[in-house]
Amino acid sequence: MPKNLNNRQPFRHEVLIIGGGAAGLSLALRLAPHASVAVIAKGPENAGSTYHAQGGISAVLRDEDSFESHIQDTLNAGGGLCDEQAVRFTVEHGPETIRWLAELGVPFTADKHKDGSKHYHLTREGGHSHRRVIHAADATGKALETTLINHARHEKNIELLEDHIAVDLITGSKLGLKHNRCIGAYVLNKSRGHVETFQARFVVLATGGANKVYLYTTNPDGSTGDGIAMGWRAGCRVANMEFMQFHPTCLFHPSAKSFLISEALRGEGGKLKLPNGRRFMDRFDKHAELAPRDIVARAIDHEMKRLGADCMYLDISHKPAAFITSHFPTIYAKCRELGIDITKQPIPVVPAAHYTCGGIMTDLNGCTDVDHLYAIGETAFTGLHGANRMASNSLLECLVFAQSASDHIKSQLADDYEWDEIRPWDESRVTNSDEEVVVSHNWNELRHFMWDYVGIVRTDKRLQRAKRRIDLLLSEIDDYYGNFRITNDLIELRNLAVVADLIIRCAMQRKESRGLHYTLDYPQTDDTKPAENTILKPSK
Ligand code: FAD
Ligand code: SIN
Repeated sequence: MPKNLNNRQPFRHEVLIIGGGAAGLSLALRLAPHASVAVIAKGPENAGSTYHAQGGISAVLRDEDSFESHIQDTLNAGGGLCDEQAVRFTVEHGPETIRWLAELGVPFTADKHKDGSKHYHLTREGGHSHRRVIHAADATGKALETTLINHARHEKNIELLEDHIAVDLITGSKLGLKHNRCIGAYVLNKSRGHVETFQARFVVLATGGANKVYLYTTNPDGSTGDGIAMGWRAGCRVANMEFMQFHPTCLFHPSAKSFLISEALRGEGGKLKLPNGRRFMDRFDKHAELAPRDIVARAIDHEMKRLGADCMYLDISHKPAAFITSHFPTIYAKCRELGIDITKQPIPVVPAAHYTCGGIMTDLNGCTDVDHLYAIGETAFTGLHGANRMASNSLLECLVFAQSASDHIKSQLADDYEWDEIRPWDESRVTNSDEEVVVSHNWNELRHFMWDYVGIVRTDKRLQRAKRRIDLLLSEIDDYYGNFRITNDLIELRNLAVVADLIIRCAMQRKESRGLHYTLDYPQTDDTKPAENTILKPSK
C-alpha cells in the first residue's frame, strides 16, 4: 500500500496524526501494518515534551507492587477528581505497554545481580508508594522518542513530515456538508511557506501540552496547546484547564532555559533546603520531599515569598558521587556545564509550569465529541489525572491511549468511506504582515500576565484582571489573523490565546481550592458536594 493515497493535493492518508511525540508515534507504529499514516510535526524530534522527559514511566512491574496500589496512589494525587475507570484502564495496561517498548528496544536501565540476572531498575517519585518508575537513566524521553522515531522511519506505511504545522481542522460543518465528521487539516508547510490540505478518514490530535502559556516552564517552545485550540474550534468540549501543573524543581540559573531537575532525584534521597541549609518540606506534608507535586510546588513558592528568596535548593550531595553520576548523568553534566557540581553542592531550583492536566475530552478510545477525530497524550483529557497528575503517569497515558485509539480506528478501516471534496486554503484576502512585532509583543504580554495572575496561587481579582487582558488580546489577534498571511508564530500565538482564555474561564468557575488549583479566596476544598470536572462547551 502506498504511504500517501494520492500524491497531489489534497494529500490523502487513511489516518492523519498531528504530533510526533510518544502519543503520536506509538499510535503510528501500532497502525502501520493496517493503514496508510501521515505523522506531521511542527518541528524536529526534540520539539515536543517527550524528548525531554527525565524520570520515567510508571507501571506495576514487581510482585510486591499491585494494580490496586498504583490506582490508589493516582486517585490520592488526583484530589478526588480522577475518573476511576480511566485510572484502572491505564494502570492495568501498564505492564504490557512496557513490554512492547522493551521489544522495540528502548534501553531501560537495568541492575545486574550477583547471579548474573538483570532486572530493570525502578525509581521512586512523589505520590508513589512503591518503586515503579522504569527509566533510561535520567533521559527516558530521549531514549523513547529516538527508538519510536527510528522504527517509524523504517515503516513503509508511515509518512513522517517535520516542519509541518497544522493550522486548523477541517470538518463537514465548516465546509457546509451534511455530516460533521473531521476529514482533515490545513497544514502550513514551513519550508515551502504555503498551506497544504491533508485529507484523512481519521484525524488524531497528539500535539502535547500548553505550558508555554506561562513565562517560566520546563517545556520546549512548541508546547503551545495547538491541539486543544484546534479541537475547541472544531466543536470539542474541553475540561479541567484550571489544573496546570507546576513542577517544583526547575533549575534556577540565568543560562539554563527550562531545564528540569527530575523528581527522581528526590526519589533517590535528594532533600529540599532553604538558603540557610535547613530542610522545610516536613513542615508541609508527612511525605516531605515525596509529597504530591502540587504540595511541594506550593511549599517552595510559599518559602520563596516568605523569605524574599530567588530560589530554594535541592541537595543530593550526601550520596556517593558515583551513585549520582550514574543515576543522573544528564543532570550532572548540565549543572556542571553551568558551574554547579551536584556531588558537592545543592542545586538552585524554582517551580515552573510543567503539565496540562485538562484538555480535549475523550473516552477510553481517545474519541472526541467530533466524529472521526481523536485526541491522545497530553492534549487530551481522559479523566486519569484529576486535579493533579502523579509523576510519570503521563508517558504511560500517551502509550496506553495510543493503543486503544489504534484498536478503535482499526475496527473501522473496513467500513465504506466516501471522500469529500475539500476546497483549498484561501489566501486571496490576506497580505504579508507589516508589523511582526505585534506577535512577539502579544506573546510576551500573555505569558507575563498568566504567570502573575493565573499561577500557583490565584485570587478572584487576579483572575478577573487576566480575563480582561485576554479578551483584548483575543480580539486583537483575531483581527491580525484575518488580515495577514499566517506564520508559525502567529498560529502558535492564536492558539496560546485560546488556551489561556480556557484556563482562566475554568479557574474562574472553580470556587474552591483543589489539587493544582489554589485560590486565596476559597482556600479549602469544598467537601459539601461531590467533586465535579469543569467542562466548557464551544458555542455553535
Ligand atoms: P509531545 O511529546 O509534547 O509531542 C507533541 C508533538 O506535537 C510534537 O511533535 C510537536 O512538534 C507536535 N505539534 C504540536 N503542535 C503541532 C501542530 N500545530 N502541528 C503539527 N505538529 C504539532 N512525563 C512522564 O510520564 N515521565 C517523565 O519522566 C516526564 N518528564 C518530563 C520532563 C520534562 C522536561 C517535560 C517537559 C515533561 C515531562 N513529562 C514526563 C511529561 C511528558 O513528557 C509529556 O506529557 C508527554 O511527553 C507528552 O507527549 P505527547 O506525545 O502528548 O506530546
Ligand atoms: C520528572 O522527572 O520529574 C518528571 C516526571 C514527570 O513529569 O512525570
